[in-house]
Amino acid sequence: MRLTRLAVVLVTALPLVTATASAGGPPKRPAIALTDVLPAVAEASPAPGDGFRLTSGTVITASGAALPVATQLAEALRPGTGFPLPVVADGGARAIALVLEPGHPDEGYRLDIGPAGVALRATLPAGLFAGVQTLRQLLPPEIESTSPQRRRWVLPGGTIVDRPRYAYRGAMLDLARHFHEPAEIRRYIDQLSRFKINHLHLHLSDDQGWRIRIDSWPRLTEVGGAPGTGVGGDGGGFLTKDDYRELVRYAADRFVTIVPEIDMPGHVNAAQVAYPELTCDGVAPRPRTDMRVGYSSLCVSADVTYRFAEDVIRELAEMTPGPYLHIGGDEAMSTPHGSYLTFQKRVLPLVRKYGKIPYGWHEIAQSPSAAGAVIQFWGRERTSPSVATAVAAGARVVLSPANRSYLDMKYDMLTPGGLAWAGYIEVRTAYDWDPARLLSDVPESAVLGVEAPLWSETLRDSTDIDFLAFPRLVAIAELGWSPRAAHDWSSFRARLGAYGPRWIRDGVGFHRSPQINWS
Ligand code: ACM
Repeated sequence: MRLTRLAVVLVTALPLVTATASAGGPPKRPAIALTDVLPAVAEASPAPGDGFRLTSGTVITASGAALPVATQLAEALRPGTGFPLPVVADGGARAIALVLEPGHPDEGYRLDIGPAGVALRATLPAGLFAGVQTLRQLLPPEIESTSPQRRRWVLPGGTIVDRPRYAYRGAMLDLARHFHEPAEIRRYIDQLSRFKINHLHLHLSDDQGWRIRIDSWPRLTEVGGAPGTGVGGDGGGFLTKDDYRELVRYAADRFVTIVPEIDMPGHVNAAQVAYPELTCDGVAPRPRTDMRVGYSSLCVSADVTYRFAEDVIRELAEMTPGPYLHIGGDEAMSTPHGSYLTFQKRVLPLVRKYGKIPYGWHEIAQSPSAAGAVIQFWGRERTSPSVATAVAAGARVVLSPANRSYLDMKYDMLTPGGLAWAGYIEVRTAYDWDPARLLSDVPESAVLGVEAPLWSETLRDSTDIDFLAFPRLVAIAELGWSPRAAHDWSSFRARLGAYGPRWIRDGVGFHRSPQINWS
């Protein structure tokens, strides 16, 4: 089910024509408006007249905790402009100033652009980072070039005041069905952080493989991460603890929090192959690299199950600075209902014991122990009595409706790769829904945010990831970040079409959806 070479050629070859054509006559006035940003900004007030022109004399000013973000901005703008763009403490006029000050919401920022300079203000470095992503999109697409481009670099004048609608804006990558190397994960982090996505959930274990080193149970990765443990006998591999810690740091530098998931009590065949004592009869099952689900279960009545769960949770929590630890809980079709509740009653509190907020797929809502948890809704229904009950008891919800946000669903019947069990999801389908109203029995106050999962049954490498994630991940990013009042398909469609040349310069092989006029 590999994406075909033809698809790759199509997505990369066509846009080159436009990129070449637009290099001809640089416009005198900025062709980009303050509102031409993905995800849409909350408020924009354009100013008449000139904006700010970047020149070889422009400096970036910042101090203290603003310095790392200022350095990231300089590093983003230097290759395409060829300007030195030094980061200095005090630059006077002609500066892009990054300022930390009280009064802005978490991750929110204010961006003032005028002929004399640019001021980006936020209370937290995360807000400055969000503002930097906006600023980059206000420059022409050639800013993404890796070598200097001869053209005028003009930012549109005016003011943007921006803030997120939801605190949690996530993407999920499945490392279990096909392992993805740290370099591929870093590349995904680079791309998703451009759209103000702030959580990356890593699905680290499943029936096929186990992808994170656990020192107290070393065979999990020695056996479960061996070559050939991907779907169809592909690939294999796992993250060492150093790999994982390095990914956590890399993501944190981009204001992305890693959310680790170990899926229990179902989806555990790989763990049971490595440790047969995790089955009730003590007999090792055969390794599985097919795509079936629902056949494996931990032995809920055995003490060793809870030693295993606690060791895994403790070691994961120790290397995870973020607040959430995801324990799966989905599709436990081989765990009887009563056993499922017994399991969750013991395991959900273990997550708290190690200082983390329990997080799980919506099946955990059946357990009274999910009261303070985060519940990830992945269904296609418009009501969920069990989620509503857990919410009434204090749970919060992340929305990942499979028929809207699952990035591994095909775009249409011709899509190479991907699955179709939740339907085809073209860009408009991914975009046209409201997280506040998805579940009619859950109030918006309980919605922590949205997440777009990318399951890896058919995904081998970054080419495959790019093609299914982009552009749909941007639709989910906009639902998570932008105010409901900004929701507008024709506007989104136009902004997305204009983004294409940036992905081309970045080497991202996105799906050229026929719903979008790509420029
Ligand atoms: C899921 O798609 N089984 C969460």
